[in-house]
Amino acid sequence: MTPARITLHDKTFEINIPERQILQAIEIIAARISSDYAGKQPLFLAILNGAFMFAADLLKEVSIPCEVSFLRVSSYQDMHSTGQVSEIIGLKEEIKDRHIIILEDIVDTGHTVYALLQNLISRLPASIEIAALLLKPECQQHPLQVKYIGKAIPNEFVVGYGLDYNGLGRNLRHIYKLV
Ligand code: IMP
Ligand code: MG
Repeated sequence: MTPARITLHDKTFEINIPERQILQAIEIIAARISSDYAGKQPLFLAILNGAFMFAADLLKEVSIPCEVSFLRVSSYQDMHSTGQVSEIIGLKEEIKDRHIIILEDIVDTGHTVYALLQNLISRLPASIEIAALLLKPECQQHPLQVKYIGKAIPNEFVVGYGLDYNGLGRNLRHIYKLV
């Protein structure tokens, strides 16, 4: 699907970041990770649902041996973060002494990634970093270091490329913002 404007539920969105720009940003992250983690066989932990497309495109560009697993945390409903992060579901890998890279679609308040970080750090990984396709810098409520960032965006609601508005829009190849 590639329309310039789309309607999801009751809201209209227009293209904000075209696919080619997304893929360029991802290539740069993948090159940095491939160099930073040479010889370390990192384990990527992608956060479902939003990061599935980011993870797929990023991993195709990573040129070193690596592993990937998917997990789920839930904190976001409608267009505002609830600020509550429930249990981590689906983490079966042993992460002690592993080099972990969390893959997140977007860091907004930072609640999700911060809570996940605390949980994972308690399992004693060798190292842990965050790669986020998008970052809303104005919204960060935690002292988070996001090492790999695709693009910083203003405090606007976006959909597409894995991101949804109440379930819709994840399949869009571009990132759209609210009109
Ligand atoms: P945080 O916990 O506030 O950082 O929110 C992180 C999660 O909220 C992300 O993983 C997204 O799933 C969701 N989210 C944050 N901002 C947006 C947005 O603009 N559009 C769609 N989902 C968003
Ligand atoms: Mg998400």
